[in-house]
Amino acid sequence: MIISVDGSAAAGKGTLARRLADHFGFALLDTGLLYRAVGLRTLRGGTDPSNREAAIRSATELTEEDLRDPQLRGDEAANAASKVGAIPEVRAALLDFQRRFAASPPAGAAGAVLDGRDIGTVVCPDAEAKLFVTASLEVRAARRLKELRERGREAIHSRVLRDMQERDRRDSGRDVAPLEPAEDAFVLDTSELDPDAVFAEALKFIKSRQERL
Ligand code: DC
Repeated sequence: MIISVDGSAAAGKGTLARRLADHFGFALLDTGLLYRAVGLRTLRGGTDPSNREAAIRSATELTEEDLRDPQLRGDEAANAASKVGAIPEVRAALLDFQRRFAASPPAGAAGAVLDGRDIGTVVCPDAEAKLFVTASLEVRAARRLKELRERGREAIHSRVLRDMQERDRRDSGRDVAPLEPAEDAFVLDTSELDPDAVFAEALKFIKSRQERL
């Protein structure tokens, strides 16, 4: 079984995807990390992540070590990821790995949860259960601000809000695989829900899909 969890930044999809993977004993792939690693590798090569040739090279030469980079979770990597993610050849280079993971999850797991932006629409259009997680911009910016401060980082509300708005615009406005719910996705607005309620809603939907299989 494949569960796709797509949605915007800081909407809560990472937390939900992890909980679902734990609950079902499925393998988990955070596909954002792949784009982040490509973005960081391009930056580390001294090139802007919007540079097509450099980003494509980073995607095709990506190593296991790039995927372990401690800076992967930072905002610099997030913004770079959003830039390289707009380049069709970068997306194409990462597609195979994601599809192989979904088709043959590691360690013999009975299923996979993939979290990203285009899993239900492009990577796994046949996923048995598709979730699309959103929340208002204000709520997402507040969550990100809290998270940054908890990590001991200095963060300014207006800057976090602006960065998120820019990333939303890039992720939703790009020509290739823009951020949008699949037609058969269950859209979950988490603005007023805590993580337990989000998980319960998602589980209810997945169970209804399982009954139909
Ligand atoms: O999920 P995340 O915040 O780690 O993703 C970082 C960026 O990577 C996101 O702004 C857009 C890009 N991305 C993408 O284009 N497609 C995916 N499947 C996952 C992430």
